[in-house]
Amino acid sequence: MGKIIFHGQSFIEIRTDKHTILIDPFISGNPLCDVKVDDVKCDYILVTHGHGDHFGDTVQLAQKNDATVIAMVELTDSIDEKVKSHGMNLGGAYSFDFGRVKLTLAHHSSSTNDGRYMGDPCGFLLNIEGKCIYHAGDTALFYDMKLIGEMNKIDIAFLPIGDNYTMGVDDAVKAVEFINPAMTVPMHYNTFDLIKADANDFKRKVESIGKKCTVLAPGESIDF
Ligand code: NI
Ligand code: MN
Repeated sequence: MGKIIFHGQSFIEIRTDKHTILIDPFISGNPLCDVKVDDVKCDYILVTHGHGDHFGDTVQLAQKNDATVIAMVELTDSIDEKVKSHGMNLGGAYSFDFGRVKLTLAHHSSSTNDGRYMGDPCGFLLNIEGKCIYHAGDTALFYDMKLIGEMNKIDIAFLPIGDNYTMGVDDAVKAVEFINPAMTVPMHYNTFDLIKADANDFKRKVESIGKKCTVLAPGESIDF
């Protein structure tokens, strides 16, 4: 039994009895974030790509908590003198003590804010305590999401809906159809004006194709 807390943008915190795993911990400069760097405890930090609204406070959090950063190998190579890290690449999976992590495709870009190449962006497919969680990262809609849905019985999918940089609402609804998760949670919207989206419109549209959707405000959580 675990809990996933949404902290705004694409930052989620997964808590199990033994571990806390962060994905894309964007705290400083995130107007929606409900937590402070000093208050966050974690064992692992998963980063989908190098953009500041995902990489966020990764280095500081990893140092403070002696946490391991899991990401694309070019990204981990860029920080491995500062933090403990585990580099991976697309399609690869590895079993950690908290569960299994597989890197999925994400159609997007990945560099630091000052332009350094960070390898390809990715999404994460997690198997934790018998549940399958998919965090799509920043991505366009792509047809191979159908393959992800066919090969995995996904319990909870976190999908971007904010448009401009990623899928918008209608493309994300199509993604739900492809991925076929038991529950979908929208992310990557309303943090900035450019990515304003109506999460309730998304929820209605997801429900209209017979699927479930939970809209989480920052600080709210979902059990798994
Ligand atoms: Ni991005
Ligand atoms: Mn982003």
